[in-house]
Amino acid sequence: MRTETPQAIRLVDYRPFPFEIEETHLHFRLDPSATRVVTTLKIRRTGEAGAPLVLNGERLKLISVSMDGHALDSSAYRQDAEFLTLEAVPDAFVLTTEVEIDPAANKALMGLYMSGGRFCTQCEAEGFRTITYFPDRPDVLSRYTVRIEADQAFQHLLSNGNLIDSGALGGGRHYAVWNDPFPKPAYLFALVAGELDVLEDSFVTMSGRTVALKVFVDPGQAPRGAYALDALKRSMAWDEQAFGREYDLDLFMIVAVRDFNFGAMENKGLNIFNSSLLLADPETATDLDFERIEAVVAHEYFHNWTGNRITCRDWFQLCLKEGFTVFRDQSFSADQRGAAVQRIKDVKALRARQFAEDAGPLAHPVRPSSYLKIDNFYTATIYEKGAEIIRMLKTLLGDDAFRAGSDLYFERHDGQATTVEAFIACFADATGRDLSDFFAWYEQAGTPSVSLASTYDAAARTLEISLTQATAQTPGQPAKKALPIPVTIGLLDANGAPLRDSEVVVLDTSTKTVRWAGIASTPVVSALRGFSAPVNLTTDARPADGYVLFAADPDLFNRWEAGQTLARDLILARAAGSADEVGEERYAEALGRALVDEASEPAFKALLLALPSEPDLALAMEPADPAALHAARRALRTRIAVHLGDLLRRLHGELQASSAFSADARSAGMRALRNGCADLLAADPHALNVDRIVGHFEAAANMTDAMGALSALVQIGGEARDKALAAFHTKWRHEPLVLDKWFALQARDPSASALDRVIALTTHEDFDATNPNRFRALVSTFANFNPARFHDPSGAGYRFLAEKILAVDAYNPMTAARLVEALGGWRRYPDTLGTQMREALSGVAAHPGLSKNVLELASKALD
Ligand code: PHE
Ligand code: ZN
Repeated sequence: MRTETPQAIRLVDYRPFPFEIEETHLHFRLDPSATRVVTTLKIRRTGEAGAPLVLNGERLKLISVSMDGHALDSSAYRQDAEFLTLEAVPDAFVLTTEVEIDPAANKALMGLYMSGGRFCTQCEAEGFRTITYFPDRPDVLSRYTVRIEADQAFQHLLSNGNLIDSGALGGGRHYAVWNDPFPKPAYLFALVAGELDVLEDSFVTMSGRTVALKVFVDPGQAPRGAYALDALKRSMAWDEQAFGREYDLDLFMIVAVRDFNFGAMENKGLNIFNSSLLLADPETATDLDFERIEAVVAHEYFHNWTGNRITCRDWFQLCLKEGFTVFRDQSFSADQRGAAVQRIKDVKALRARQFAEDAGPLAHPVRPSSYLKIDNFYTATIYEKGAEIIRMLKTLLGDDAFRAGSDLYFERHDGQATTVEAFIACFADATGRDLSDFFAWYEQAGTPSVSLASTYDAAARTLEISLTQATAQTPGQPAKKALPIPVTIGLLDANGAPLRDSEVVVLDTSTKTVRWAGIASTPVVSALRGFSAPVNLTTDARPADGYVLFAADPDLFNRWEAGQTLARDLILARAAGSADEVGEERYAEALGRALVDEASEPAFKALLLALPSEPDLALAMEPADPAALHAARRALRTRIAVHLGDLLRRLHGELQASSAFSADARSAGMRALRNGCADLLAADPHALNVDRIVGHFEAAANMTDAMGALSALVQIGGEARDKALAAFHTKWRHEPLVLDKWFALQARDPSASALDRVIALTTHEDFDATNPNRFRALVSTFANFNPARFHDPSGAGYRFLAEKILAVDAYNPMTAARLVEALGGWRRYPDTLGTQMREALSGVAAHPGLSKNVLELASKALD
C-alpha cells in the first residue's frame, strides 16, 4: 500500500549482494492463521568489508533474531516495513530468525496462502519476503533444507528436492524434511501441504536414471491429471532430443491449485499449477484447454534448465528465462501438433496481446531498464516478443549454429544467475558471428513497420525488391534505430506455382534493395513467410496477388495471412462506409474453395474460417471505432454464411464425430472446423441454422462441442441463448472450471444488454471475486474480448472496469493491475470514447491507498 512516492528500480543500479548464503534451513510450523517460520542462514561475506546485512521482509511479525546461537536484542538490528538490517556483522556467521505469518488472511496469493483448505506458495517474483527474512533477489543462490510440521489433516507435506525424512509427531501432528541439492534463488522455493490425490508414473532419462513423477490434485480428480502427466513425459523426452537437456532430480512433482494469479510456476522439482491449466477430461475441458495444458506443462518443465539451473541475475533479465522458455514450448507444440497451425496460433496471440501493448502507453523493451513493481512486467512483450527474438536468432544463424550456441550457454552458465548479454555472447562465440546489432531487439520497444515494394522487369527477367523499416516512438524512446530484421521471401507465379524458393533477406538498415535475376514470369511475392520477424508488413501487392497466395502459397502461414489481409481490408472498408460488395463475394468464394481443398488439414481450415478479431482490427484503424468494426465484421460473417450456407451445413454435418473422443491434434482439428462452421452459420440465424446449432449443443458429448455450440448460440442471442445457458449452468454448477467458461461466454455476449448482464453476474451466487480464474473469466474477458460492449458510448463499460480494478486491488494487486491495460489504449479511440477512458483511468490513479502495482500502470497509461 502506498505510503510515500514509490522509488523506481533501475538496471544501471545493479550491485551484487555482498554476502553468500551457503545454506538455508527453513522450519515451518504450519497453522492456517498463525504459521511460525524459523529460518537459519549460514552466511559468508563476499563483498565489501563493513557492508551491512540487509534482508527483505514484508508483513512479517518478528518473534526473535539470533546470531551464532545467541539471541540478539532489538538494538542489534533495525526492522521496518520492508527490511531487516544488521549494521555490523562478522564475515561468517549463522543467523536465525523466527517470524509469524497469517496464510489464511493472504488474498494477494503471493507468499504462503490457503487455497481450498490447503497451504501453498507463490514466490516469484518477490513473494518469499512475505514468508521470512531473506535476500529475496534472483542472484542469491542457496541450498535449501525444509522441515514442515503440520496437523495430520494436512496429509501431504511437500517442498523442493528430495524427501529425506518424515514421521509422526505428538498431538496429531506430523513432519517431513526436504533437501534440494541444487542451489536456487528464493523465488523458486515452494511448499504445499494438504489433502490431495496423487497420480504416479516414472520417466527414464537419456542417461538411464529413473525419475519418479507425481501429479497432485484435489481429492477425486486424479483421472483429470492424466493428460498433464502424459504431456510431462513427452516434454522430458523432447528436451533431451531437441536441446540435450536431461532432468536432474530423482523426483518431479506438479500440484494443481484453484486460486492462482498466473498460469503456473516452475518451482524446482515442485511445479504449482493453476488447476485450469492442469485438470482435463473430454467432458469438462475443451481441445483448447488440452492444447494449453500441454504447452504449459512443457513450459514449466523446460524452465528446469532455462530458469532454474541457469537463472536471472536480476529481474530486468526476466526475458532470459521467459522468452527462451516460451520459444522452447512453442517449438515443442509445433513438433507435437504441426508447425504451420502452431505458428498461426502463436502469431495470433502475439498480435492480439503484444502488438497492442507495443502500440500503447505501456510499451516497453523486452529488457526494460526500470520498474516500480516487477509483477507488472510479466507481459506479452517479455514473454512473446522475447520468444520471437530467439526465433529470429535461430533463423539468422541456422539450426545447427543455434544449437551450438544453446549448448554453449548450458555448459558455460550452468549454476549461475546471468544476463541477456551473456546469453547472446554464447551464440556469438559459438558461431564467430558479431551479434552486437542484434542486441537492439532487446532494448528497443515498439513494433517495427516494414514496407515492401517490388518491380519486375519482364525483358530483363529481374525482380527488384525494396524493403524499408521504421519504428514509431514509444514512451521514453523518441528516436529508434534500424534493427536486423530477417524477412523470408519466396515467389509464386500468377497461377500459384512456385517460382523461387524461400530466402532470408536481412533488412538491417533503414532501407535495402535486393535484385533477383532469372525470374521467368511476373511474380507474386510471398514475404515474411512463417512470420519471420515480429513486424507489421505492408506491401504493394494487389488484391489479385492476395488471392493467389490465399489459394496456393506453399508457406501455410502466408496462405492464412493472405486470407486475413483480404478479410481485414474488406472489414475496414465497410467500417469506413465504403463496403466492397463484389470483393466480399469474391472472398467468400475463395474461402469456399479453401474449405474443400483435400490437401489441407481441418485444423488449418478452421483457422482460415475465423475472421480477424475485433481487437486485431482495432489496431488497424485510426482512430478505432469499435461499434463500426463490430458491425462490419458481422456483416462480412453474414455474407459468408449466406454465400457458403450449403457448404457450411454440409461440412458441419459430415464432421460430426462418429467415434469416441480422442484429444489428438487431428481429431481436435475436425472439432475446431465443425465449431467454426457453427460459428459462421450463427451469423445467418434463420430457423434451419438455429435448429442445427441447437441440435449441436444438445447432442454434444464433450466440452469442445458444447462450447462451440453454446458460443454460437450466445452470438445469436435471445431465447436460444438463454435456454442453452440455463441448461449448461444446471448441468455444470458444481464444476468450477466449467463454470468459469459459463461466465466467460456471457462476458463475450455482443448483444446490447450484455453489460447489464455482466454487472448482474457479479452478484451471482457462483461469482467469487477472490478467485482469480472466476474474476478474470467475467471481468477481464468482458474488457478485453468484447470491444463492442466495453466501448459503449455511455462510458458505462469503462466505469464498470475501473470499479472492479479498485475493488480487487484492495486484496489482490497483481490481478487488479492486469486489468489496467484495457483502459490504457485511450489515445487510439475517438475523443468521445478516449476522454471517458481517460477519466476512468484518472479515477483509478487518484484512489487513496492504491497498490504500487496499479499505480505504476495507471500513471504510465495516463502520461
Ligand atoms: N514464471 C512463471 C512462468 O512463466 C510465471 C509466473 C510469474 C507465475 C509470477 C506466478 C507468478 O512460467
Ligand atoms: Zn515461464
